[in-house]
Amino acid sequence: MEYSAHEWGVVLENLIINGGISLSGEVNISGAKNAAVAIIPAALLVEGECIIENLPDISDVRVIADILKALGAEVSWLDESTLRVDATNVDTYEVDQECAGRMRASYYLLGALVSRFHKAIVPPPGGCNFGTRPIDQHLKGLQSLGCTTEVNGGVICAEGENLRGGQVYFDMVSVGATINIMLAATLAPGLTVMENAAKEPHVVDLANFLNSMGANIKGAGTDVIKIRGVERLHGGTYSIIPDQIEAGTYMFAAAATRGDVVIKNVIPKHLEAVSAKFVEMGIEVWEGDDEVRVVANKPLNRVNVKTLPYPGFPTDLQPLMVALLTTVPGTSIVTESVWDSRFQYTGELDRMGANITVDGRVAVIEGGRPLTGATVRATDLRAGAGLVVAALACEGTTTVTDIRHIDRGYERIVEKLTALGANISRNND
Ligand code: EPU
Repeated sequence: MEYSAHEWGVVLENLIINGGISLSGEVNISGAKNAAVAIIPAALLVEGECIIENLPDISDVRVIADILKALGAEVSWLDESTLRVDATNVDTYEVDQECAGRMRASYYLLGALVSRFHKAIVPPPGGCNFGTRPIDQHLKGLQSLGCTTEVNGGVICAEGENLRGGQVYFDMVSVGATINIMLAATLAPGLTVMENAAKEPHVVDLANFLNSMGANIKGAGTDVIKIRGVERLHGGTYSIIPDQIEAGTYMFAAAATRGDVVIKNVIPKHLEAVSAKFVEMGIEVWEGDDEVRVVANKPLNRVNVKTLPYPGFPTDLQPLMVALLTTVPGTSIVTESVWDSRFQYTGELDRMGANITVDGRVAVIEGGRPLTGATVRATDLRAGAGLVVAALACEGTTTVTDIRHIDRGYERIVEKLTALGANISRNND
């Protein structure tokens, strides 16, 4: 379910981009959205005060913090990137419908509330629309931990009087299901073993957060995760990892504009799938301890790309790769193997003059035809970022509408791109 901007009183804003300028300079990467939206609900498991640092200042983070507040947690911002949460006094396991529909990650409340109260009622989540987004693996995992589950009109109810560790084998790699079961198992007596688990950096970050508060989780970052349930978690301070998708976004912006950009405060290992493709394309990538420099000053080569769970090429950077490939002469093929329907935005690139043919999960890009500015709509968060990259690269003025999607995941994108030399601004519609 998607919330409408009017319904939530959001002012509709556009991005206006005058493209064709090579980006140069340095950009600092914020904390990871997808780690933040898992770790904030995880604070529900903690007795006492959690200080969560390096949070990105984006709407998804504010929404999940508000949901915890609505559940009765003490939540306050110590500065723009540091949140204090004390969930000791939360006494409800039922999430408000209006809140849950505002983001995808609200379903992490399922695992967190089951862990804490052995019961959860969570209305249907919102978030980006890439076709159906089933939750069968989340439910199957909870059932393996002794819960009964029921979905009525999209509302998910889970009950686990006798919640305990169990053996979970996921049919496919799911970030969300891995995180939800990790949350549920943390306080469940006995041993939980998750096989075919997701290995994404934010799965590891959640495990590190929980372990730093007293959990016993081993193997995060591999496909077998073992969790020995503990009785309670204690408070503490934790700093979120840098956002590898935001970092990747600036790598693509640098490459598409044939620029020279140093992307700072990153973990270069998290970006290896992108760096390897860039090298194949003839883009220079230098890795430092916590920075990556991208230089694109030679003609680029066409490539084929297939998205895969981590450490494969990330689906969340697929629209940015397609945008870049429209600037590269020749035929490139991009295969989306994570989501059923993640090419809806290519029609928007076509409005800018791109030549992209989509057949199911495969997009064929005839690149190298100059794009021109147009009015295009951000159909979802990363699609929006892809349109921004295309607009930065091409001559003329592009208006990107519906940028509330972009604001869900990118902190101060206008300021960060402006500092790199881009001509970009916001205006109200
Ligand atoms: N799937 C099922 N059943 C399930 C769960 C997933 O069939 O029970 C399928 C999905 O339909 C999809 C695939 O498994 O085809 C992978 O889905 P996954 O559960 O991994 O995705 P998610 O947890 O809902 C997270 C990110 C997405 C990112 C995907 C894949 C968050 C909040 N969201 O979603 O990020 O695309 O993993 O890496 O962590 C974004 O940041 O823009 C974004 C959409």
